Amino acid sequence: MDYAQPHTQKTRNNTDTSTRPDAPSATEAMQAHYTEKLQDSRLRDLFSAQPDRGSTLTLEHDGVYVDYSKNRITSETLSIMQDLLAECDMRGAIDAMFSGVKINTTENRSVLHVALRNPSDSHVTVDGEDVMPVVKKVLQQMTNFARTIRDGSWTGYDGAAITDVVHIGIGGSEIGPHMADEALAQYADTSIRAHFVSNVDPADMQTTLAHLKPSSTLFVVVSKSFTTIETLTNAQAARTWLLDSAPDERAVARHFVAVSTNTDAVSEFGIDPANIFEMWDWVGGRYSLMSSVGLTLMVVIGPAHFGSMLDGAHSMDEHFRTAPFEQNIPITLALLSVLYNNYFGAETELVLPYSSQLGRFTTYLQQANMESNGKSVRVDGSPTQTATGPIVWGTPGTDAQHTFMQHVHQSGRLIPTDIILFKRPYVDSGDQHNLLLSNALAQAEALAFGTTDTELREGGVPEELVAHKRMPGNQPSTTLLLPKLTPYTFGQLIALYEHKIYAQGVLWGINSFDQWGVQLGKTMATTIAAEISSNTPGTHDSSTSTLVSKLTTE
Ligand code: F6P
Repeated sequence: MDYAQPHTQKTRNNTDTSTRPDAPSATEAMQAHYTEKLQDSRLRDLFSAQPDRGSTLTLEHDGVYVDYSKNRITSETLSIMQDLLAECDMRGAIDAMFSGVKINTTENRSVLHVALRNPSDSHVTVDGEDVMPVVKKVLQQMTNFARTIRDGSWTGYDGAAITDVVHIGIGGSEIGPHMADEALAQYADTSIRAHFVSNVDPADMQTTLAHLKPSSTLFVVVSKSFTTIETLTNAQAARTWLLDSAPDERAVARHFVAVSTNTDAVSEFGIDPANIFEMWDWVGGRYSLMSSVGLTLMVVIGPAHFGSMLDGAHSMDEHFRTAPFEQNIPITLALLSVLYNNYFGAETELVLPYSSQLGRFTTYLQQANMESNGKSVRVDGSPTQTATGPIVWGTPGTDAQHTFMQHVHQSGRLIPTDIILFKRPYVDSGDQHNLLLSNALAQAEALAFGTTDTELREGGVPEELVAHKRMPGNQPSTTLLLPKLTPYTFGQLIALYEHKIYAQGVLWGINSFDQWGVQLGKTMATTIAAEISSNTPGTHDSSTSTLVSKLTTE
């Protein structure tokens, strides 16, 4: 599907209405609507014309309330956009994902993270085989393992219980569990601490290990491929650290477990095959938090809370799969994203979780969205004719208000924003939580409506400061209100964004589940690492060659 584009975007070139000469295509109808009704719209006017939009342009599912009224849309916009969904066969795409069709065509893989949280006895097949028995088997294996760590019956080489779990992984094999560990800290067993090491910078591992005791530390090495250089290097460093203190190599089996699809490589590393937690190629790295990749999380929050997270995600999965598109939260968020990205020409999406616990949520969304949708080739290999994945950024409010929100309010750039808030506090805090909530609502209101010069003057602002204090407003935002940050609502939130990302990809006609763009740099790094280690610069461009020489010479 191709969209008409504003100035910042690639131009459209294939609006082919030849099969329906009299009917405008969905994109043409939307383009006309955009030009006539939306392009110059003002949120102040939209609210005056439709005073009840704050209570009508809303959606709700299982406690997740979404207010999308502060978007630059009329009551017709999303109805008109429904035709875009028909044109890209969104219904067929959703059914294909849930039924195990190999929608990740470039890797010939199914995409079934939804099977990880499917509690029913319904079958989900890949290559004619039902995957649900293995999903349940691994979940049980994780549960048994987590219990032995939590009750102290799994001991280190000197018989002491495990107090510290170091999760080693990177990208989708680290960001999700790390983010979730912080988000759900309140549900954690305080006698077991989780640590996360991802960066190949040796400082990451060394600063983590500096305060740990080998005999009570367990390493969970997470790598779907078990070929990722950062993870393997860090795992080797951890092994050396352990064996510096342990009596012999048998300690590795008590102190290392692994999560991977590559069981041969894991065994070669020396990890006991009994301690390998299986992964499958039909779960993408950035969609894998709820698989065995979440083992460390399960150890710290316990199997019951982990199960509750799966239940929350399943609830959102079912909503995405079955809700009519007009009431479908992920679909609506995807359509709004397409509206701003492809019609208004916005290049970024800001996410402001009003929760300090969600400090890593935007990093997580950056990988989830940008690795999925930062592509300019369609599924059939042809170039996309429009902008695709937006740049996702953000930080928790209220911190954001003291860093970049000045820019959002007065730079003049269009920055659509998601504001995430929880009605009840994470921890009991008297009135303090109200201050957090009021800041979230105040930001949304200020972004949408700003202040007029008249209001400034009436408020006594001196004439020479009116231009400086002018708040243009008209910045769109969507508010996501959830009851409380719990494992269940956390699962809902993750699934909500996962499905929004897939729906975006379907609307753009791209494969959201491969990531070929990360390969080239990995290969080059391997070559350069060998040159630096052997002190023999290879052949490169003059910039890279000079830099390599500076590293290989004194
Ligand atoms: O960064 C690229 C990537 O392939 C991610 O998609 C993935 O999450 C990460 O590397 C880690 O891969 P693995 O789990 O195979 O170590």
